[in-house]
Amino acid sequence: MKGKFITFEGCEGVGKSRQIKLLEEYMKKNNVDYLLTREPGGSIISEKIRGIILDKENDKMTPACEALLYASARVQLLDEVLKPELEKGRLVICDRYVDSSLAYQGYARGLGYEFVAKINDYALKNFCPDYTVFLKLTPEEAFKRKGGVDKTDRVELLGKEFHEKVYNGYLELAKKFSDRFIVIDASGSKEETHQKIINALKEKGIL
Ligand SMILES: Nc1ncnc2c1ncn2[C@@H]1O[C@H](COP(=O)(O)OP(=O)(O)O)[C@@H](O)[C@H]1O
Ligand SMILES: [Mg+2]
Repeated sequence: MKGKFITFEGCEGVGKSRQIKLLEEYMKKNNVDYLLTREPGGSIISEKIRGIILDKENDKMTPACEALLYASARVQLLDEVLKPELEKGRLVICDRYVDSSLAYQGYARGLGYEFVAKINDYALKNFCPDYTVFLKLTPEEAFKRKGGVDKTDRVELLGKEFHEKVYNGYLELAKKFSDRFIVIDASGSKEETHQKIINALKEKGIL
């Protein structure tokens, strides 16, 4: 893999999208070539799968079905977009990736790390992120900051206990993959968090 692959992770509302936007502005200003994509989604087929996963009418969806749908969306994005772009040597930034599945489906839904890692082997094979920017903020703080849950989002509606499990799952992953995880304290202002991310990516030679 010639290019660099950077993912952003963290609980709902911690500022992933906001920080990626600020990073984009920085990269544009500094003439850094990049491709931005998101999960689940990032290709026409994967965006359709995203719609099924997030639709709040699909409240009968089983954890296993959900985990397999995420993996399907991921494999499609990987083959269609990520692999070709990374082979060309581009810097690829992805809003969420496999760690979201490990944290949400593995730890929080109770399917277990091993099971979710196994079904994600297609996506994981050689295409692990070079670095994962983990925005560390508890779900409690994040929901307080964004003024409550988004009632149209099936995942956001899952409740406090679920999101606590996701958070603890991420902490486990940060320990397990300490060589690739960049843990950023996201409790400060947007600008403070942005500066921390820029410094960290510079230190790793990405920017
Ligand atoms: N550092 C911050 N301080 C205060 N509010 C923030 C901060 N970062 C993000 N927000 C706000 O929190 C909400 C969720 O941010 P968002 O970037 O959409 O999170 P995510 O993509 O991680 O779900 C948005 O309304 C955003 O403007
Ligand atoms: Mg977002």
